[in-house]
Amino acid sequence: MKQEAMHLVEQVQLAPQIYELTLAGELVKEMNVPGQFLHIKVPREDLILRRPISIHEIAKEKNECKLIYRTEGEGTKVFSELKKGATLDCLGPLGNGFQIEQVQKGQKILVIGGGIGIPPLYELSKQLVKKGAIVTHLFGFASKDKRYHLAKFAELGVVHVATDDGSYGARGTVATVFPNVDVPDAIYSCGNKGLLQSVASYYENVPDVQLSLEARMACGIGACYACVCSKKESPNETLKVCQDGPVFQAREVLV
Ligand code: FES
Repeated sequence: MKQEAMHLVEQVQLAPQIYELTLAGELVKEMNVPGQFLHIKVPREDLILRRPISIHEIAKEKNECKLIYRTEGEGTKVFSELKKGATLDCLGPLGNGFQIEQVQKGQKILVIGGGIGIPPLYELSKQLVKKGAIVTHLFGFASKDKRYHLAKFAELGVVHVATDDGSYGARGTVATVFPNVDVPDAIYSCGNKGLLQSVASYYENVPDVQLSLEARMACGIGACYACVCSKKESPNETLKVCQDGPVFQAREVLV
């Protein structure tokens, strides 16, 4: 983990409320595992808490990374107004990401995401394809205008899409398209609670199901207990999403 003032190379809006930041800095050298995040200070004095933003893509050759976030409050609104040349105080990479060392060439992997849970799945999918895995993506969005980067993901593997209102792809949640694809060797998923619950229950017999949990965070480094979730076997015991996760085996946690 490092702290660095990273340089904003570019910011583009991908969809309503969805923005992509390209940042450059030495911190990129520390990024290897897909599914980790940066904890970023909002460049405004009165906003004290950092915001956790997952790493969408790592480009080591350029010392750059891409992060995608949704504007949800004052902090992320401040991020969305930043222009090329700004610097951002970044801490990271933080958390335990997706474990993919065991993935073998030719294995079939389902990558399942919804809404703002989709960004970290790109670096994951890229690394899986590099290992020779066959990746299929199942993505859910609220509506057609909220979708982004589908062509980019399609370069790595087939993409199936569902939208809540049926304006693009199948109508319904992403679980609507589960029956359309073969049961894979492993599943990696990121999204809201409902999505993760449906993944965990529909694929309970798949041996490797990894879920990236969303949680409100404060410190981001395991010191404040703002982000706890419960262990599946003993719900009175907790795990910290920021430090023990955000990625967990589905059999480990209650979602
Ligand atoms: Fe502080 Fe996780 S955010 S312990």
